[in-house]
Amino acid sequence: MTHGGRAAGGPAGESPAAGNDATREGASPDVAPGAATGSPAAATRVLSGDDPAAVAEAAAAIRAGEPVAFPTETVYGLGADALDSSAVARVFELKARPRFDPIIVHLADAADLSRYAIDEDASDPRVAAVAERFWPGPLTLVLRRREVVPGIVTAGLDTVALRVPAHPVALALIRESGRPIAAPSANPFGRVSPTRAEHVVRQLGGRVRIILDGGPCAVGVESTVLFLARGRAVLLRPGGLPVEEIEATIGPVDRLDDDAPEAAALSPGRQASHYAPGARVQLIDPWPGPDLAVASGERVGVLAFDDAGRRAAEFAAGGPFAAESAAGRPFAAVEVLSHGGDPTEAAAHLFDALHRLDAASLDRIVAQPVPETGLGRAVMDRLRRAAASH
Ligand code: TXA
Ligand code: MG
Repeated sequence: MTHGGRAAGGPAGESPAAGNDATREGASPDVAPGAATGSPAAATRVLSGDDPAAVAEAAAAIRAGEPVAFPTETVYGLGADALDSSAVARVFELKARPRFDPIIVHLADAADLSRYAIDEDASDPRVAAVAERFWPGPLTLVLRRREVVPGIVTAGLDTVALRVPAHPVALALIRESGRPIAAPSANPFGRVSPTRAEHVVRQLGGRVRIILDGGPCAVGVESTVLFLARGRAVLLRPGGLPVEEIEATIGPVDRLDDDAPEAAALSPGRQASHYAPGARVQLIDPWPGPDLAVASGERVGVLAFDDAGRRAAEFAAGGPFAAESAAGRPFAAVEVLSHGGDPTEAAAHLFDALHRLDAASLDRIVAQPVPETGLGRAVMDRLRRAAASH
């Protein structure tokens, strides 16, 4: 095995319980580089993002038009050369993503923004202010695009989404490939975003040839998407950078309601994103509520915000249950996002917890609301969409 890589599903990988047969079909043992090129039957290798030879191999794949999964500080991305329409088309196919949902272009340098955005937007002083303050980081800017950006990347919109990620492996991959990298989150469309290499293995194993492993993502929710075209400022997606911090830098930012008349035009992918595990998600507000009752034979998982929320759930369901008497607990699985109740920590753990609950063969997941301050807003956005999708 080269570069310390390990074969998907190998003994060093995830537990068998975490395997997903549907997405693992076609996965095969490790093969020599170049033997497969991202076709549906590609063998998947997980390579260390710290290994320069692995990054060089991934960059060569990007230049050759092949999608590669890589870490960012928010979630793992499935990247392709943003200037190569057929490479980007393969990303849409691999994820089964609808073509109307545009993709973020990742840059290594804020200075490259003016290559892809028109002068009128790129020279807006608010763009320089947020780029200077928050890049590299979990902020995506939507600006009017230059002709050079292929229409498939922007789903035919006259805008392009740009971001400089704060992850050394992502930056190394972009620099080494010498291309801007178009990358959505590396999950099948509508499912839970990946924050660890093994999440990508579980969801896209057998479909992508190279996964660069950069460890768990520090932020854990996707970037904040901010529309700054035509002199406006509109929050299109709450994410890893709290909107309060943006407003402290450039002043008031408009919020966009899903039902607002301009929502579909400004952000066509918004309504379509679900972040959903296989089991039905119920957001229980106020917590705890009667829906916490577990029917006989029913497998219910708990997604608690903090320890107090967990205790309240166990009590409401017939407890309290001592931690050591797991057999007496009514819930099949319990996840606590932040023991002490910190929304930033909750964001970092959200998708990892949902992936574990997803692997626990549950009938339903009951989720506790998170306070909507700071990153709590992004967490609640994802939970509401997950709950709405069933
Ligand atoms: O943190 C992130 O943003 C991650 C990492 C990989 O960078 N990427 C990510 O990509 O979350 P994705 O495709 O899962 O979400 C991109 C969001 C979608 O809601 C999409 O509709 C929006 O950005 N978007 C992309 N281009 C846009 C554009 N030109 N106008 C409006 N929204 C756009
Ligand atoms: Mg996504």
